[in-house]
Amino acid sequence: MERKVGIIGAGVSGLLACKYALSKGFHPIVFESQSTIGGVWTNALETTKLQTPKPLYQFSDFPWPPSVTQDFPDKHLVFDYVKAYAKHFDLLQHIKFNNKASGIEYEGHRDEEIRRWSLWGGTGEPFSSMGKWKLIVQDLNTLSTQIYQVDFVIICVGRFSGLPNIPEFPPNKGPEAFHGKVVHSMEYAAMEDEKAAEFIKGKRVVVVGFQKSALDIAMECCAANGAENPCTVLYRRPRWNLPDYLPWGFSLAHMYLSRFSELMVHKPGEGFLLGLLATFLAPLRWAYSKFVESDIKRKLHLAKHGMVPTHSFLNEISSCLISTVPQNFYDKVEDGEIKLKKSPSFSFCHNGILVEGVFFATGFKGEKKLKDIFVSKTFQNFIAGSPDAAIPLYRECIQPRIPQLAVIGYSESVVNLYTSEIRCRWLAELLDGTFKLPSIETMEEDVRQWEEYLKKYSGGNFKRKCIGALHVWYNDQLCKDMGWSPRRKKGLFAELFEPYGPLDYVPS
Ligand SMILES: Cc1cc2nc3c(=O)[nH]c(=O)nc-3n(C[C@H](O)[C@H](O)[C@H](O)COP(=O)(O)OP(=O)(O)OC[C@H]3O[C@@H](n4cnc5c(N)ncnc54)[C@H](O)[C@@H]3O)c2cc1C
Ligand SMILES: NC(=O)c1ccc[n+]([C@@H]2O[C@H](COP(=O)([O-])OP(=O)(O)OC[C@H]3O[C@@H](n4cnc5c(N)ncnc54)[C@H](OP(=O)(O)O)[C@@H]3O)[C@@H](O)[C@H]2O)c1
Repeated sequence: MERKVGIIGAGVSGLLACKYALSKGFHPIVFESQSTIGGVWTNALETTKLQTPKPLYQFSDFPWPPSVTQDFPDKHLVFDYVKAYAKHFDLLQHIKFNNKASGIEYEGHRDEEIRRWSLWGGTGEPFSSMGKWKLIVQDLNTLSTQIYQVDFVIICVGRFSGLPNIPEFPPNKGPEAFHGKVVHSMEYAAMEDEKAAEFIKGKRVVVVGFQKSALDIAMECCAANGAENPCTVLYRRPRWNLPDYLPWGFSLAHMYLSRFSELMVHKPGEGFLLGLLATFLAPLRWAYSKFVESDIKRKLHLAKHGMVPTHSFLNEISSCLISTVPQNFYDKVEDGEIKLKKSPSFSFCHNGILVEGVFFATGFKGEKKLKDIFVSKTFQNFIAGSPDAAIPLYRECIQPRIPQLAVIGYSESVVNLYTSEIRCRWLAELLDGTFKLPSIETMEEDVRQWEEYLKKYSGGNFKRKCIGALHVWYNDQLCKDMGWSPRRKKGLFAELFEPYGPLDYVPS
């Protein structure tokens, strides 16, 4: 019997999910609310480039075309690459564009029964003869609603799109008290290029935030306005944003994306010896972090600008907070075209600083977007987990108590495309019966151990759910589940010291 797999979203993760579902003979139906594939790459600022070096941000079986020579291709080239991938694997025919999944509902088992399960879905199997998912899908062209029934759902709705994080304010202290324009980076990115340029031209603006969107918008503002109308960047805390990937001439990938770098960190589920080694190597872990920090301080003159973070670079990379600083950003600060202002909180008022526009580059509410897709409150609570924990996903894909469903692309890594790809391959093997999931209790214990790791190293940013600084250890687990050798390199030296990337996981 042909199993139907409903995939929500046709960004990079949804396309990969579709490709790997097809590879195992399933029948995927992809619902995409936009009129195109590509997700974040269709609605990014004009100046957006890949932050991750191109060799790492690539599909394992579909290299970048030789015509793309840049190490960090711009958003148009990334979009073209993703489109070429979809065309090459003939994925478009499986996608229903302008179709938004407004809700999903599980049918076949009652909540009380589900709560009593000790195995995923009651049996440990990915499919069930009784349980089906109902997808409520709105056609955005006709505004009609259709119901689809599928055997399995893969949620690929993205983490950094769709639902902006707008700061909350007390009454009369929010944007309503301000006469200028207030937009979120998402709305600004969605504007036509000319309209966006016009929007900032000749205006004094404030950008709230200090991650990649904020830095890029500030650069666009000062390119348009110069020192005459400086752009103020309002931030809560300085960050170890990177000038490049070559601290003191050494490759950051070798330092942080290799098996050796992971030996310095306490890992979820490590045995006694690895634990001992991580403790023994703690001074080296500290030295690595200081080495990178000293290079960033030196290159960006952070001390001069009062921008030296108090936390470590290790915290930053362990929470995937490693935005690259646009070229000449601190020169613009030096020239007075960008003003950096630290403020733990802020509000709007009638008689405050005279500005004409405010950009919230304050990120997204990925957690809420994921939770709201479930109709059932029980499942909403399962996916949200406890308030002081991150979204609980086993292998960053499966909520142990939600049957016949996976989430791809929520948990972050330093290189998201390649991480989504290996997760989709793992999921396809699970659906195909290559391996079975352990008991719910075992999965929850594993989730708890990863949570503990994140809380230890992420400096309070554990909700970002980043596996970036432990990606080899994480991939090892997926490989073992699938019956692959986790050792993918030739020779001990390469195995220990070479960075791991997508090409190490080319199907063998
Ligand atoms: C501007 C920008 C630049 C980035 N640069 C990098 C980088 O350099 N390196 C890196 O590793 N990562 C980068 N990222 C992270 C990026 O999110 C991932 O690399 C990856 O592209 C995410 O793909 P995705 O498919 O998981 O999510 P998305 O690209 O967000 O795709 C989700 C898709 O789901 C659709 N959708 C959402 N809800 C519904 C619904 N209810 N029904 C139907 N469809 C729905 C959306 O329309 C969208 O097409 C960047 C992110 C942003 C925002
Ligand atoms: N390739 C590219 O060029 C590119 C471009 C844009 C975005 N991206 C990626 O897209 C993702 C999203 O990036 P993003 O910059 O939009 O969001 P983000 O990484 O989530 O950063 C949000 C920023 O807003 C701040 N913030 C959040 N709430 C706030 C509040 N209430 N008051 C004040 N400040 C607040 C945060 O401060 P704290 O740090 O203090 O929490 C942080 O600086 C990231 O993965 C990023 O790497 C990539």
